[in-house]
Amino acid sequence: MSKLIRTSITIEEDLLEKLEQLTSKSQFSNRSEFIRDLIRGAMVEEEWAANEEVVGTITLIFDHHKRELTNKLTKLQHNHHREILASTHIHLDHHICAEMIMIKGPASTINEIVNNLRQQVGIIHAGITMSSTGIS
Ligand code: NI
Repeated sequence: MSKLIRTSITIEEDLLEKLEQLTSKSQFSNRSEFIRDLIRGAMVEEEWAANEEVVGTITLIFDHHKRELTNKLTKLQHNHHREILASTHIHLDHHICAEMIMIKGPASTINEIVNNLRQQVGIIHAGITMSSTGIS
């Protein structure tokens, strides 16, 4: 990690007030930490937009009683065994399952995999948490 440098920025008064409010509501102890996190978030978004190699976690919520759904999800994941690093299956109740899939690869490939999974009949929710090293 490089050394910390003190700097100043020019910002509208109401925006600064908003920053103070957001910082106090956040888990960060001061606005410098809050702003650093915003910058890193923007860097991750940039990497995803530039189709660089990124990591993410796909969360699927689905009804395993839907015909052939479990088999289709397994097949789709096997088709992408190079990108999928691990997955965890949780039985939420009698009918509903949650599956968390950790994935790594070019952003466009990951988006394609998420969209394929999302389109299957019986999927109640499909989300992706995007991340990356932020170093490119
Ligand atoms: Ni289950």
